[in-house]
Amino acid sequence: MNQHAKIEEKKPFWLKDNFAPVMAELTEMQLDVTGSIPPELNGRYLRNGANPPSGETAHWFLGQGMIHGVELQNGKANWYRNRYVRTPLMAEGSNPMEAFGDMTKSLANTHIVGHAGRILALEEGHWPFELSPELETIGAYNYDGELKTGMTAHPKVCGETGELLFFAYGVAPPYLTYHRATADGELVQSEEITVKGATMVHDFNITRNHVIFMDLPACWNFEAAGDMGLPIQWDESYGARLGVMPREGTDKDVVWYDIDPCYVYHPLNSYEENGKIVLDVCRMAHIMKPGAPDVPPMLYRWTIDQAAGTVTETQLDDRAVEFPRVPDSLVGLKHRYGYTAEFGAGGPAAVAFRKYDLETGASTAHNLQGRMGGEPVFVPAAGASAEDDGYLLSFAYDPSEDKSELVIVDASNVEADAVARVHLPTRVPFGFHGSWIADPA
Ligand SMILES: [Fe+2]
Repeated sequence: MNQHAKIEEKKPFWLKDNFAPVMAELTEMQLDVTGSIPPELNGRYLRNGANPPSGETAHWFLGQGMIHGVELQNGKANWYRNRYVRTPLMAEGSNPMEAFGDMTKSLANTHIVGHAGRILALEEGHWPFELSPELETIGAYNYDGELKTGMTAHPKVCGETGELLFFAYGVAPPYLTYHRATADGELVQSEEITVKGATMVHDFNITRNHVIFMDLPACWNFEAAGDMGLPIQWDESYGARLGVMPREGTDKDVVWYDIDPCYVYHPLNSYEENGKIVLDVCRMAHIMKPGAPDVPPMLYRWTIDQAAGTVTETQLDDRAVEFPRVPDSLVGLKHRYGYTAEFGAGGPAAVAFRKYDLETGASTAHNLQGRMGGEPVFVPAAGASAEDDGYLLSFAYDPSEDKSELVIVDASNVEADAVARVHLPTRVPFGFHGSWIADPA
């Protein structure tokens, strides 16, 4: 092994192979397509991820956000662009671990969502950053000064009302704050929620009538951080709980349910049925546990019986799956199907998109045949009537070309070949979350 290969070998996974950042911001209007792009897909697929400009970071979660996007219209791919989210943190080259107090010093690297006509790039400790449809950074967005905390990277747009329900967590009090914005983008509620301490609260759950917080033992610990990159450490003595609150409730309305210690980065979805709350989640036995290797995430179901005061936990599959999605229109409502990234041996990247039928318990997969992808984002077909009548969109990396594609898969028949592959001029590093931002009707 030569010296260069030895240095590469020693790098952590997020700085090598297709996790490594790209150095150029590109705009490409001439894109080759294999197959045919469904003509009803009019809008932009946008995806966020960590892309450290220096090429180095202490943890996968700590690189500056870069958005990769493809615009589709009338069966044609109009453009591919990749752009940094230009926050003050990027301009100053600051250490994100020293930027907790200033709500503008965001990495903005985790998710990108559309709400009330705005496109917001999100991370979980700071204000959102608004972007133009061409991915230029407009600036920090704080609801005309009303938002006093950051915003989670996983706000939920209610499939029925269009409200944006979200929270923020703090490494200092208040440790947890709940927020609710109207479909028009007016922040109408902010409530402090009492929890015991500072934990990493990455995501949460909504149903038609409730929100459900996950208070899990990934605890901020600035003394014990060591060389882990993120000052977060597993601490089972903290306990693990789910907190159920009416959507317009307050701290005193939260009912907490103890569960077995575990971590959930991402729920698939949750809903209410027959007086119970059902949550399908990608559950890990632990994370960031000193001396213990990470364990794969697997699909589980929690069923909360509010009348009986109980939670039952059921493992639904033993495959390693993450980045779960349902159609945006079903967030908080009953889903039959869930779409996930099925991980292989090469780290947190998808070798297949696995589709679960939660009614029958069966699953099917779209094998990426040597390419590696990410979170499958569901986009409905025109006039769709069946829940799975639509498409899954994701970037996929082709190691033989060292380039990436936007793959478009028929969600009703995932085992078939991709209906279209839009060939991009560069590789797109494996990243985090994305959205389909449809053109205005
Ligand atoms: Fe996430």
